[in-house]
Amino acid sequence: MVIRSLDLETVCGITSSIPENDKPEIAFAGRSNVGKSSLINALLNRKSYARTSSTPGKTQTINFYNINQELYLVDLPGYGYAKVPLKAKEQWGRLIERYLNGSKQLKGVFLLVDIRHAPSRDDKKMYDWIVSHGFQPIIVATKVDKVKRSQLQKHIKIVKEELQMTGDGKLIPFSSVTKQGREELWVSIEKSIEAVPSTDIGRATS
Ligand code: GTP
Ligand code: MG
Repeated sequence: MVIRSLDLETVCGITSSIPENDKPEIAFAGRSNVGKSSLINALLNRKSYARTSSTPGKTQTINFYNINQELYLVDLPGYGYAKVPLKAKEQWGRLIERYLNGSKQLKGVFLLVDIRHAPSRDDKKMYDWIVSHGFQPIIVATKVDKVKRSQLQKHIKIVKEELQMTGDGKLIPFSSVTKQGREELWVSIEKSIEAVPSTDIGRATS
């Protein structure tokens, strides 16, 4: 993907309504600090277009990045950060739920997990939640630069098992430091956008 134009078009907070975009959307979910904003920067070849932070809880809104007037990359608020007050957690949860339920253009959800750790209960809940909204999440195992190459397969196995991924579920090892996995991620994004939903196939043949 050649990035010709880039615009943080909509920032959606707990009281905002979800924008009705007319271009496909690809969303990135995952716990706080897992590397969602860094991944978006890596995809865009930018150092810090999406704001990142070593302090968890940086992204507290749903940020819609318009790419080439062709598609949106959607940065979701991170979950699972203990220091966030319960009320805020609930509000973000509802915001994410409103988005997953309400977006007509959402074509794919990528769920990020840190390759170094077994997925948390929140990660599993998020995975199941995405599935229950009709999406097959693509797992991105982040910070792969932090594990030894010899340990990589072991970590991948743990992630797949803990999430109870099915055989055809996809996992992409990724690092926003080395950019490992960047091309594979773009290919998956493009595939998600092209895929014809089964409901549309049904409509076309009936
Ligand atoms: P929230 O906005 O709080 O939900 O976090 P986020 O998921 O957007 O995480 P962010 O991209 O801000 O990254 C969190 C921290 O992890 C930052 O200090 C990043 O530099 C670091 N980080 C992100 N991706 C990688 C990676 O692939 N490798 C390494 N080594 N560090 C990473
Ligand atoms: Mg962020």
